[in-house]
Amino acid sequence: MSTESDSVAALILAAGRGVRMHSGKPKVLQSLLEEPVVYYPLKAVQDAGLKNMALVVGYGGEQVEAYLRKEWPGTGVIWQAEQLGTAHAVMAAEEWWKNYRHVMVVSGDVPLIQAATLRDLVDKHLRAKSESSFISYLTDDPSGHSRVARLADGAVRIIEDKDAIEEELAIHEINSGIYIFETAPLSAVIKKICRSKALGEYNITDAVALIGETEGDVNIVVNEDRSELLGVNTPNDLAVTAEALNRRIISRHMRDGLKCMDPRSTWIGPQVKLEPDVFMEPGVQVWGKSVIASGARIGAYSILRDVVIGKDATVLGPSVVSDSSIGRNAEVGPFACLRGKARLSDGAKAGRFVEIKSSEIGAGAKVPHLSYIGDTEIGEGTNIGAGTITCNYDGRKKNRTKIGARCFVGSDTMFVAPVYMGDDASTAAGSVVTKDVPPGALAISRPRQDNVANWSSRVKIEREEKKDNEEN
Ligand code: UD1
Ligand code: CA
Repeated sequence: MSTESDSVAALILAAGRGVRMHSGKPKVLQSLLEEPVVYYPLKAVQDAGLKNMALVVGYGGEQVEAYLRKEWPGTGVIWQAEQLGTAHAVMAAEEWWKNYRHVMVVSGDVPLIQAATLRDLVDKHLRAKSESSFISYLTDDPSGHSRVARLADGAVRIIEDKDAIEEELAIHEINSGIYIFETAPLSAVIKKICRSKALGEYNITDAVALIGETEGDVNIVVNEDRSELLGVNTPNDLAVTAEALNRRIISRHMRDGLKCMDPRSTWIGPQVKLEPDVFMEPGVQVWGKSVIASGARIGAYSILRDVVIGKDATVLGPSVVSDSSIGRNAEVGPFACLRGKARLSDGAKAGRFVEIKSSEIGAGAKVPHLSYIGDTEIGEGTNIGAGTITCNYDGRKKNRTKIGARCFVGSDTMFVAPVYMGDDASTAAGSVVTKDVPPGALAISRPRQDNVANWSSRVKIEREEKKDNEEN
């Protein structure tokens, strides 16, 4: 069903370099809680209910485009080869936005902007039926920001800080950089914008004044929460913004039932999903598209990235788990490392100093101590002795190990892959398993033990004889 807000398209400006980041990566791809900066305005626009989005790219545009193709398919990409200012960027996209009745213009570098704020702007713009609308903020300290001048005749002008004269600098109302324009009047005025005095750029802020002068009404939506405007221009801004976003995300999860011992040292990415009643000790980091079920406990200083953690599972900290899943009631750590699609089934265990990579561990199976398990399948209820290693790499390629159900693997067994061990089989401690082990069999492969009788007293006598010889 097409609604009135479908007539509003959203254009996100993201062509700028961000010189003050001192980075080869474009500013909008800098990492904020392990998502690119531009993720946040895209998500806010999407959550505000706007379906048609496009991004203006320029500096590092190939990288930005690759990110969009992967994570935001359906979002338009518009190139602005040379960055001559925000109005120049909007003009580069005219062929795209002229297909819609209204266009919202948002900066790609304002990650704290909230969907509700954008939604409110859309609603007020449509209700007011004005030709342009934008968000402003009232602030005690406007220094460095663009001022909103409300002139006596009702006209509005936005003045860049660098272009402002003394009486304009005294204004405390500042521009958010978020606008909605009706596209027909925008088309009419955008060509008339001249280069600014201070920087010689074409500024979209001038479109507001020009529409007010010639094409119709300007509607200003004053917003209370100025922190939403915080742009990221420097590494310091990245840190400050990340902290603010993190605080917002953790508060939301705690409202929904997260028990977080120390919110200040806990970090949770924006795409993480938590069921109610997850418990986190201090220093936990959860990133990517991780999903954690209720009753799970995440131990101190664990780092989880793109994980699925089942109900009532326990991760003892510190452990590092990425791109892996942990079943119900399963237990991991402390000092465990799971990666590359490791799958721990319900009630399974990966204990102290255990690394598991690209392997499936069956229900109730246990790898309790000091093991490396790679490219392996382990059946239900099998116990893996301390120090067991699957030797999966022969110097050229990775090979698989398969260990059946209910097996007993002795401590310090080396499985030289590819190798197979049937159900209910065992290995003797210290064995090097190079041949398949049939179901129910015991594999022993180690030198037999010889005991030399009276060894200690013989050694003692030899030492004493030597000492006597040296003294004589
Ligand atoms: C802009 C506004 C300012 C507002 C502020 C709010 C202008 C001239 N100024 O200033 O009034 O208070 O945002 O955050 O609009 N960009 C392009 N192409 C260009 C230039 C910029 O795509 O040629 C993009 C940038 O990547 C950035 C956004 O536009 O995402 C804003 O540009 P920036 O240079 O950061 O403008 P501000 O100085 O922040
Ligand atoms: Ca900016």
